[in-house]
Amino acid sequence: MHGFAYKNGSLHCEDVDLQSLADEHGTPLYVYSAGTLRDHYTRLDQAMAGVDHEVAYAVKANSNLSVLRLLAGLGAGFDIVSGGELFRVIKAGGDPAKCTFAGVGKTRGEIEYALRQGIYSFNVESEEELRFLNQVAGDLGLTAPAAVRVNPNVDAKTHKYISTGKSENKFGVDFELIEGLYARAAAELPHVKLRGLQMHIGSQLTSIQPFIEAVEKVTPLVLSLKEKHGIEFWSIGGGIGIVYHDSLAAGSVDWWDEKSEQERPLTLSQYGQALVPRLKDLGLKILLEPGRAIAGNAGVLLTRCLFEKKGTAKTFKIVDAGMNDLIRPALYEGHHEIVPVTEPGDTRVSVDVVGPICESGDFFCQNRELPDFQPGEGVALMSCGAYGFVMASNYNTRPLPAEILVDGATATVVRQRQTLDDLVAGEL
Ligand code: LLP
Repeated sequence: MHGFAYKNGSLHCEDVDLQSLADEHGTPLYVYSAGTLRDHYTRLDQAMAGVDHEVAYAVKANSNLSVLRLLAGLGAGFDIVSGGELFRVIKAGGDPAKCTFAGVGKTRGEIEYALRQGIYSFNVESEEELRFLNQVAGDLGLTAPAAVRVNPNVDAKTHKYISTGKSENKFGVDFELIEGLYARAAAELPHVKLRGLQMHIGSQLTSIQPFIEAVEKVTPLVLSLKEKHGIEFWSIGGGIGIVYHDSLAAGSVDWWDEKSEQERPLTLSQYGQALVPRLKDLGLKILLEPGRAIAGNAGVLLTRCLFEKKGTAKTFKIVDAGMNDLIRPALYEGHHEIVPVTEPGDTRVSVDVVGPICESGDFFCQNRELPDFQPGEGVALMSCGAYGFVMASNYNTRPLPAEILVDGATATVVRQRQTLDDLVAGEL
């Protein structure tokens, strides 16, 4: 469910007309729904209510300060992957003591910064990193709280670029090697305190099965680590998938009600129902690291059609957003539903929607049946709240778009559009 729907013939985010936002702030423009962010966070929190848990939002999905501030206000912790993300969390009023720090390549500077800020845990991805962490903490006269990321060798059945839980992926330490590593760390690394275990098998999982498989496989290991080393938490990672294909319709309660159990995508309550019984008696605090499930369907990228170009082979609708603003279709063949801001009639045409970038990969869809929107019209790319703006770049020297947060009838600019001067700031 989410806050985007047609009202009086025009696409709205909550009570704000997207056409008026496009007219006032220009396009391309990211628009987020505060109500949806709150709703998704709360749904997941409630779905896990049967177990001692904490939702550590994956900052990488959408790191706008206002989004982080909103989630911090709901009590969220944060999963970060860089010193920069920790800086953002602190700026937004988040609590460093609720931050976990993931990633295979943390630098000394990042580790020192996070140690001084007193984060909850470094989620370490190799023995080499654990030894380095011990050394840096020792140099500062501190003890580093840590967890090792286990690679459970489970197939997440998602796009190969966002699957992380197989032995051939660069992430984590092989399942079979974990016990030995904890034993060596306990004996040899006095400046590290192992307080948990972490895993994350991949992103955009649309079936519950891989989650169940991973939890069941790792449970004996985590219990053994608890007994031998007194660990207190288990982070089961993020990865809950969202609806991309029917995402506008999925905003309404009816859509979910009408779907049969088999065709209904993974829901937050289904996730909780499957996992809480398996986790509740372990005597461990369970951490979750959702990014997309919170933010994905809470945002759209608003663009405008510039031209229609009819060739001999195809019709192209050229819009003013490009792959620099939203790279998911080019990078992962990501599907984003494309809907005109003005509610369309029934006519459909087969088109490619493309951006202005000088690359053939700069498309948002190919040969898709879409309403016949015209130059000048506003168009929304749905489900862009996660891994949208955060992956945008200045390629082709295009300014980064503005971001708007809508809450009820109020729309706030939470990041200004870059200016031409911003584009060259810092250059000689
Ligand atoms: N925890 C760890 C350790 C992760 O690496 C990730 C995502 C998450 C949590 C959050 O996963 P989520 O709940 O959002 O699925 N840019 C790609 C997705 C990359 C995900 C990277 N890691 C995309 O646009 O699909």
